[in-house]
Formats: sequence, structure tokens, C-alpha cells
Amino acid sequence: MIYLDNAATTMHKPQPVVDAVVRALNTVGNASRGATEASLAASRVDYVARERLAKFFGCAEPDHVVFCNNSTEALNIALMGLVGEGDRVVSTDLEHNSVLRPLYRLRDERGVLLDFARMDEHGILDYEELEDLVDDQTRLVAVTHGSNVTGNMVDVRRVADIAHAHGALVVVDASQTAGAHRVNMAELGADVLCFTGHKGLMGPQGTGGMCIAHGVEVRPFKVGGTGVQSFSETQPAGYPTRLEAGTLNSHGIAGLSAGIGFIEEVGLKNVHDHELELARRFYEGVRGVEGVRLYGDFGSLEGARSADGLDDRCAIVSLNIRDYSSADVADDLGQRFGIATRPGAHCAPRLHRAMGTVEQGMVRFSFGYFNTKEEVDAAVKAVREIAE
Ligand code: ALA
Repeated sequence: MIYLDNAATTMHKPQPVVDAVVRALNTVGNASRGATEASLAASRVDYVARERLAKFFGCAEPDHVVFCNNSTEALNIALMGLVGEGDRVVSTDLEHNSVLRPLYRLRDERGVLLDFARMDEHGILDYEELEDLVDDQTRLVAVTHGSNVTGNMVDVRRVADIAHAHGALVVVDASQTAGAHRVNMAELGADVLCFTGHKGLMGPQGTGGMCIAHGVEVRPFKVGGTGVQSFSETQPAGYPTRLEAGTLNSHGIAGLSAGIGFIEEVGLKNVHDHELELARRFYEGVRGVEGVRLYGDFGSLEGARSADGLDDRCAIVSLNIRDYSSADVADDLGQRFGIATRPGAHCAPRLHRAMGTVEQGMVRFSFGYFNTKEEVDAAVKAVREIAE
């Protein structure tokens, strides 16, 4: 199989990730529950991972790195834990349901007022509209760092400057950028940065978390056992325990930690450049093919800047072929050519509505570090053949 669904999950993991998970399965007990060698081994795995993640994401305090199952869980905890009755929240039409559904729930259950900044026909966020929507009543701005559908990135620093000028917090969804782009929460101006382990960070599914800036107080979403302060009726106040009730996934965290180690060894820039080179090769191979329609702004693949001045994007190219259903095309790619892509709506309903692809969906090709030029060429050939 030619696996081009890395935006959903990177399927090919570095060997050190596999080895780290196996080692952890064989050696670690329950972190922060006792002082046996096995328990301490688990605590050490979590501690090292926290330190690595803090450094990787520019989080000043390693104990402000909170482990979760994925970015969806991190976003739920962050949004539910920061937004209260009647608050105002601004977000964007680029968001994934991991941001949208918690916000809709806040609207329905806490009377939160929601506004969404739109994007242009190429998927570039309308920053001016966002600036108009944010005011002194805005509690929080929730924004993705990179669209999981078009691959276009958002100038989060610009969004954060707008939000902070009004005293609003900034929650960033870095699901698609972590691991292949420089994601430094201080540089971006993120108050909470949510990430997942199973995509660009090359870790196992069931890993991820958030980094919380100094002074940002997130109320716990879940409460329970922590291994400390057992006689207290309330959740311990300090991070990360405040947000980490229940046994951590130290087996997975060992793999996540090894994923970061791998990226650091290869070099983040080398990972980034390889993935973007593959995306560029694919883009150049399919653009202009009769019957192929591409979605997004590809300026950065053409050596130019995107409309909002960014010169970077995710290694994602989404397209449609004629009026064929994206599901049929993805099936054909899979069955006839052995190529794995993701069709449909990609859990991003507002974006698909804005692009007019609610019925057709899009076929998303997403490239990872372990893909090769030969695989890209095979995908180009397959798209051309289907279009013909
Ligand atoms: N959020 C993942 C995707 O975009 C699963 O495919």
C-alpha cells in the first residue's frame, strides 16, 4: 500500500518509537503510584517526555505539559476549562470538529456567544473579519495552526496579537503542524497549545496533550485518582496533576517521546523539507490536469507567499476529479492503485460548506516523512488516469 493519509495518522513509525513502546510495555508500572522500580520507571518515562515536549514547543514550565489521549481531548479540556457562562468566543471556518463541537456544546449548555471568521475561496483566513469580531468581551480565540483539509496555515501570531490586545486568550490546535513545522508557543502567542502524538510527531495513537502558558488557569474537565493528596475531596490544584486524573498512557508516552527524539535527530527542517518537497511534486504533477480541481492556496509550493504573507503550508493536497464523488475516487485509488487517501468531509464542516464541497467532499493526499518520490509519482499517474 502507498500510504498517503498521514494527516489522519502517520502509519509508518520510526523504529525507535516501536522499540520504546515495546520496552515500556515490558518494564513500566503505574506512574506516580508508589515507589517500586516499575512505578518509578513509568514516572521517569513521563518526566522525560514532558521535558522534551516543553523544549520542543517552547513551553516555559515542563509541568505545564499535560498529557491527553489526543488533541480532541486536549481541546475539550482547554475550551471547557476556560470558557464560562455567557462568555464570547471567536473561532474560524477552518476548524476541525475537535474545536467546533466543544464550542457548539458551550453555546448550547453555557449560553456562550460564538462568532466565526470566514476565509476566502482559497482557504485563507479573513484576518480583518476576525479583528472585527474580537472585542473586550471576548474570552478566547480558538484557531488552528494548519487546516487538515487544505493544508493552509494560519498566521497565529497575528491572531494572537489581535486577541491579546483585547485581553482574550488564544487556544491553538497544532494537530497538523506539530512535528513538521516549528511550533513554539511563545513565538506564536498561544496561551494553550493542543497537539496530538499520532500525526507529525510520529507517536502512537492515544497520545497527545497541551502546553499551558504561565498564569493560565484551566479548570479540570475530569477528576479522579492522581496518586497524590488522596484524602482531598477535590482535584489537586497544581499542573499537570490538575488535568491528569487516572492512569496515564505511559506506554504510548514512551513512543511519543521517542518520536520527538527521532525528529530532533533527523532535524525538524529536514522532516519539513522532505514532506513539502513531496507535496510540491504531487501538486506540480496534478495541477492543470483536465478535470482536476485543487483546493487551497499553493503559493508556498510555487516559491511565492500565500495570500496572507505566510511562506509555509502543510504537506496536504486536496482535490476532486470532475464531478465524481470523493468516496468513489478514494475507493478507486485504493482498490486499483493501492493508494490510501482520505475522502469526504474530514470533520471540517464549515470549511467544506465554504468551499461548496458538502456533497462531493474532497480527496485528500497527505505526505509524511517516510513517503518517497516514487510513491508520489504513482499517485500522480493514478490521478491522471482516473481523470482521463
Ligand atoms: N483529524 C484527522 C484527519 O484530518 C483524523 O484526518
